[in-house]
Amino acid sequence: MKIDDKVKVKIKSLTYGGQALAIVDGKVLFVDEGFPDEELEVQITRAKGNFAQGVCTQVLVANRGKSPCAYSNECGGCSWLELHYANQLRWKESFIHDALSRIGGFKELPSLTMQAAKEQFFYRNRIQLRGQILTTGKVQVGYFKKGTREQVAVNTCQIADPALNKIIEYLASMELAKIKPQKFRLELQVLPAAQEQDNPCILAVLYPIEKWSPENREAKALGPLIAKLRQHPSMLWAGFAYEVKEQIFSFERWQGIEYLTIPGIFQQVNVAGNHILRQWIKDRVEKLAPTRVLDLFCGSGNLSLGLATAGRSVLGVEASGAAIYCARKTVEKNKLVGMNYRCLDVAKFLTASLARKETYDLIILDPPRAGLKDLVEKIMELDAKAILIAACDPMTLARDLKILATKYRIEEVTGFDFFPNTYHIETGVMLTNRS
Ligand SMILES: C[S@@+](CC[C@H](N)C(=O)[O-])C[C@H]1O[C@@H](n2cnc3c(N)ncnc32)[C@H](O)[C@@H]1O
Repeated sequence: MKIDDKVKVKIKSLTYGGQALAIVDGKVLFVDEGFPDEELEVQITRAKGNFAQGVCTQVLVANRGKSPCAYSNECGGCSWLELHYANQLRWKESFIHDALSRIGGFKELPSLTMQAAKEQFFYRNRIQLRGQILTTGKVQVGYFKKGTREQVAVNTCQIADPALNKIIEYLASMELAKIKPQKFRLELQVLPAAQEQDNPCILAVLYPIEKWSPENREAKALGPLIAKLRQHPSMLWAGFAYEVKEQIFSFERWQGIEYLTIPGIFQQVNVAGNHILRQWIKDRVEKLAPTRVLDLFCGSGNLSLGLATAGRSVLGVEASGAAIYCARKTVEKNKLVGMNYRCLDVAKFLTASLARKETYDLIILDPPRAGLKDLVEKIMELDAKAILIAACDPMTLARDLKILATKYRIEEVTGFDFFPNTYHIETGVMLTNRS
């Protein structure tokens, strides 16, 4: 296989990353699209020693359903819209399983449970759009094109909440004053509490692509876009990221707690899926009955606020000041006892905590995609009785578990499908200390 060669292939499997895989002349070929058993014509775009990459130029024998999305061919957002949902779940299960056996080196594992999504479409309550104001004054918003950093403009999105789709339509219908083209990133979020009451329920945070400063006239030129967003009847708050400061809103009420949020801070994107994850954590905490709980990478306290009970102390640690401010306000608002949230880098916290010889019965870990990396050893030194992990990348999770398993026993692994129609999967793991 050489670059630009065209080859006919039969797709064998799907990969974590959204590509399809075929074997050609004993070499692995990653194809930008395709589903198992399909026959495709593929043009080679990269050829290395034992693997190659290519793009599908023709589907010769199809084995796929019909995509409900008009942008499927171009948009890099969802690669599995044409794959039956039951098959999506099976593939996600195999990604977790393969990562644990191949990267983690685990030969025997407790059985893997999969939690299906409640909704397959229109489930995201938070989206990030790329956009630009064109010279004509029209506004284009969309996502990245498959495998590129170029933008594909959309008027609707099959996985975004209907309230967000109304804002996408509104943006696409805007006519602003003619200006030099301006690029931006726009984060839109629906607040379920306000949505249920039919109140304005959308938060919109605009990030100019140019770094914002009062002198940056190009970023300032996006002002009319904010003004127009504020006119939409569903808009609760719209502004530049630098204007967020301490804007705080009621996010939702769940199991007697009113959760708060601040525009732009990290929030799980699938509200229904997040409830399942919170409940999963809560059920395990009930069983383990820990007195001292540590929630590392706690964000605004999403996974631990519901754990407050008499005689228990919870400490959350997180690097984002806004998220910690939000967690503390939620504690105050709900008069929760024994809950502390600290704004600190986890690495710094771990060094200080070990020096102070602090102990915890349970550690909750919800790291970013890159996983725990060199923090694993320090976390193990804390010697907690149990660990609960929520991880958004099975590969980095498997790498971390390989080390954790030298001290901890894996009791349970559960896949939570927060992201239907994409290859992404959230994984929950419960570990108990072997000693
Ligand atoms: C996957 S999010 C989880 C947030 C929270 N548990 C939730 O469910 O909403 C990961 C969080 O880790 C935080 N984070 C990333 N690196 C960090 C670090 N080195 N120290 C502290 N927090 C960090 C991010 O700001 C983000 O809020």
